[in-house]
Amino acid sequence: MSSFDKSKYVHGVFSRISDKYDVMNDLGSLGFHRIWKAKMVKELAKAQPKRILDIACGTGDIAIALAKALPAAEVIGLDFNGAMLQVANSRAAAELGHGFIIEGSDDTLAKSTNKLHFVVGNAMELPFANESFDAACISFGLRNMPDYAQVLKEIFRVLKPKGKLYCLEASYPTHKLVRSPFKLYFKHWLPTLAKLVVNSPEEYAWLNTSTEAFLSKDELAFLMESTGFASVSYKSFLSGAAALHHGTKG
Ligand SMILES: C[S@@+](CC[C@H](N)C(=O)[O-])C[C@H]1O[C@@H](n2cnc3c(N)ncnc32)[C@H](O)[C@@H]1O
Repeated sequence: MSSFDKSKYVHGVFSRISDKYDVMNDLGSLGFHRIWKAKMVKELAKAQPKRILDIACGTGDIAIALAKALPAAEVIGLDFNGAMLQVANSRAAAELGHGFIIEGSDDTLAKSTNKLHFVVGNAMELPFANESFDAACISFGLRNMPDYAQVLKEIFRVLKPKGKLYCLEASYPTHKLVRSPFKLYFKHWLPTLAKLVVNSPEEYAWLNTSTEAFLSKDELAFLMESTGFASVSYKSFLSGAAALHHGTKG
């Protein structure tokens, strides 16, 4: 698939499942995604960043959790899919009393008094100035992008020196005994569940295809280092079914 085709395909997938994404996330991960995301938010909040970018924020759970954990910080959730952002915005309005979608960039943001924004934008070409964020995160997003290196390069560009990146991503367990049942789960059970619950088996087959095609945990750590990130490390969850990578802009 070319870069353009992958982006177009992924955009279509998330447009079709935006209203079912949250329920399938809970069912598909047996609720584990909530625990992993909470860990990432806790780690990220430790350094008390003042301006945070949540890339591929989807329906906004992480951006909202960050806004709650750090009420004085400015949190920006970016996604290229307006349908996912509409869900994020309604959720923010319900949970925080405000949310705000904009199609602009730094100029529009500067005029807003809101602390939480959702921006329509492409992770391959972030609409933000160099060195403008203290921290960034990307959760279950990178494997959907056509060029992982380009996205990391863009994140590195918008981070301030010493800024931190957290990347939470699905992966295949490394242990043989866990790997096979996990593969069966991903390849067969998840699309079946998706057919029964939300009638979108093809969209959930994408989860397996994109996870299989994604980098190993060590390869991602290496790519982060090659981009310029220092002190790169990762933690595995559930026998390696997901991993949280971390790096600092040196
Ligand atoms: C699996 S969802 C993850 C949502 C959320 N971060 C989470 O952890 O639940 C992937 C998201 O990546 C977004 N996405 C994919 N490619 C993108 C791109 N090039 N730029 C911005 N967002 C993108 C999709 O629209 C979708 O909302």
